[in-house]
Amino acid sequence: MTEIVAGQAELLRPHAEQDYAEELATLAAQDTRPRPPSWKMSPWAVVTYLLGGELEDGTVITPKYVGPRRLMEVAVATLATDRALLLLGVPGTAKTWVSEHLSAAISGTSTLLIQGTSGTPEEAIRYGWNYARLLAEGPTAGALVPSPVMTAMESGRIVRVEELTRIPADVQDALITVLSEKTLPVPELGIEIQATKGFNLIATANDRDRGVNDLSSALRRRFNTVVLPLPASEEDEVAIVTRRVEQLGASLELPKIPATVDEIRRVVTVFRELRSGATSDGRTKLKSPSGTLSTAEAISVVTNGLALAAHFGNGTLGPSDVAAGILGSVLKDPVADKVVWTEYLEAVVREREDWSDFYRACREVTG
Ligand SMILES: Nc1ncnc2c1ncn2[C@@H]1O[C@H](COP(=O)(O)OP(=O)(O)OP(=O)(O)O)[C@@H](O)[C@H]1O
Ligand SMILES: [Mg+2]
Repeated sequence: MTEIVAGQAELLRPHAEQDYAEELATLAAQDTRPRPPSWKMSPWAVVTYLLGGELEDGTVITPKYVGPRRLMEVAVATLATDRALLLLGVPGTAKTWVSEHLSAAISGTSTLLIQGTSGTPEEAIRYGWNYARLLAEGPTAGALVPSPVMTAMESGRIVRVEELTRIPADVQDALITVLSEKTLPVPELGIEIQATKGFNLIATANDRDRGVNDLSSALRRRFNTVVLPLPASEEDEVAIVTRRVEQLGASLELPKIPATVDEIRRVVTVFRELRSGATSDGRTKLKSPSGTLSTAEAISVVTNGLALAAHFGNGTLGPSDVAAGILGSVLKDPVADKVVWTEYLEAVVREREDWSDFYRACREVTG
């Protein structure tokens, strides 16, 4: 079991339940609506925690997710049923982020987590053994090492499976009994672990990776799928990037400098135009580069820009601080994407009157 030893101030990346401990405690304390068994708060309070809002006593809950309320309501309602939740979407649409906050709000912990890879073994989903004890004692309860799934079943909490579709199909199928029978047999000990109320599972999958087709239909039937969309409008995306950049900057303790909203808007505009294959006025068609240009990448371009500006620049975020980062996100394929980028630079960026500094900065790094 992991123990949290460092003081919170020293952690590079606190868990959601640590970062937002106060909000979670306040919400739970003021929440009078019915709670499903083992839940730390009502479904209504969970949605409020995710989307933000103001409580009766004036406490402000910050928004974590920006997007359609209905999607979050469906996700939270699903977790109160016997079906598991699958969050699906293109990269950078906050699947991991939402699953972390959901489990923090519902179960008080987001750390019961399996990271799916092509090498994830069945033991990671079921249980393993402490081999020293297994050799010394034989198969005993003390030698058994529970998986996060088993721990969640025993304690009635949410377990998260990241990148479910990267896990080999036969290993994924270990989840079928867990999700349909809510039990995990341990034949070596002649026992089974039955899930207690409150147990459920949130899986995330990336529909660009290998496709959700890799999810066996038997397993798929056990899930309700919620597709997380790309931010609907430029306003939404600017708001997401601005808020996350602010939070990241604070937790990385970057020297405080104003993150000019104009520069953030420009990064978002470039990303959205290249992603959608048309300029924002709809007049010019563009080729899209091979990368995904996700919101998550826009966030890191701006964060890197802030670090550049703070340590090597003039103390305000300017075009030359973001140009290299944008180029890095766009040029995933050095040949094909370079053509796409150069066309965009010459046909669109160059023509915009108030973008001349940005054009020059981009030219400089494009070479
Ligand atoms: N709609 C949104 N609301 C709030 N934050 C968002 C939104 N979209 C993206 N983000 C931010 O983008 C970052 C990346 O999100 P996250 O890692 O959860 O993406 P993901 O969908 O899991 O991507 P991947 O498929 O690459 O794993 C997070 O910091 C998150 O705050
Ligand atoms: Mg993810």
